[in-house]
Amino acid sequence: MNTNKKELLKIENLQTSFFTKKGEIKAVDGVDLTIEYGETVGLVGESGSGKSTISLSIMQVLPQPAGKITGGKVWFKGENLLEKTKEDMRQLRGDRLSMIMQDPMVAMNPLLKVGYQLSETLKYHNTKTVSTSLKDRCIALLKRVKVPAPESRINDYPFQFSGGMSQRALIAMGIANNPELLIADEPTTALDVTIAAQVLGLMKDVQKETKASIILITHDLASIAQICSRVVVMYAGRIVEKAPINTFFKKPAHPYSVGLIRSVPVLGRKTDRLYSITGQPPSLLNPPKGCRFAPRCEKAYEKCFQQYPPETDLGGRHKVACWLFA
Ligand SMILES: Nc1ncnc2c1ncn2[C@@H]1O[C@H](COP(=O)(O)OP(=O)(O)O)[C@@H](O)[C@H]1O
Ligand SMILES: [Mg+2]
Repeated sequence: MNTNKKELLKIENLQTSFFTKKGEIKAVDGVDLTIEYGETVGLVGESGSGKSTISLSIMQVLPQPAGKITGGKVWFKGENLLEKTKEDMRQLRGDRLSMIMQDPMVAMNPLLKVGYQLSETLKYHNTKTVSTSLKDRCIALLKRVKVPAPESRINDYPFQFSGGMSQRALIAMGIANNPELLIADEPTTALDVTIAAQVLGLMKDVQKETKASIILITHDLASIAQICSRVVVMYAGRIVEKAPINTFFKKPAHPYSVGLIRSVPVLGRKTDRLYSITGQPPSLLNPPKGCRFAPRCEKAYEKCFQQYPPETDLGGRHKVACWLFA
């Protein structure tokens, strides 16, 4: 047991690899992350930095046989999920722990009506008898995520839903059993900007109502600014910075975070050309021994290439792994 009244989830030194023909890809390489009750935390980083692998590791649904958790602990309400049986994990998934997948077109079964898929989620996890009929509960759920005319919509197939409506239906499935932890992996990537803002607004409302903790995975800082209270930045399998939202945007510490923020267009700020971080992230098959960002970092010096920087506590829940601050 590991108990702290504020902590819903505590990941300690998580290591997850994919074993491929080319070798071991260390997708998550020693990650520490704590999520408190009711927090909305944004997990940001370039594509391939290991964000999805963290969520698949928490849920224990890594692609098989390649994906394996090779070390660490994942405490959920004081119990290590990595010591749970497969059956225990099946019970927790979709119930206490819930994940909204990246692509709604893949996450829903195209051959089954939306209402049926919702009712299956409800049925599977509800052994207690419920007074309202399943159909009424499905309608109520779709109402909660603001799908118009839910009474008739439950009889639609997924292809009859627009992108935004599909994403709402997926959120409905995600919150069907009032989870305590909701992981949303790029929930708005496929949507246009206004619909994305609506879906995020909806997630925020749902969060207020259910008091669930949310991990929002995205490469979009605007989404994070809209609903998150804290940001965690990943680079090449490791967390390089953690900060409360205001601190992050006003005083980012890690040069990679500074680059990410600079590469977002700001209304009213005049620039000839939008900034972009040059170069590519390293291969996770054989990452460099020093700071993984060093080859792309304008401020890097000798030490950065030789040794991985320790995490420095800057105070106020702001932490950074960078030699400039160590
Ligand atoms: N099924 C898989 N087999 C092999 N490598 C994988 C697999 N899934 C992900 N990876 C690798 O793991 C790393 C992290 O991927 P991922 O967690 O999906 O990153 P992100 O979600 O941040 O884009 C990448 O290098 C990716 O190529
Ligand atoms: Mg991903």
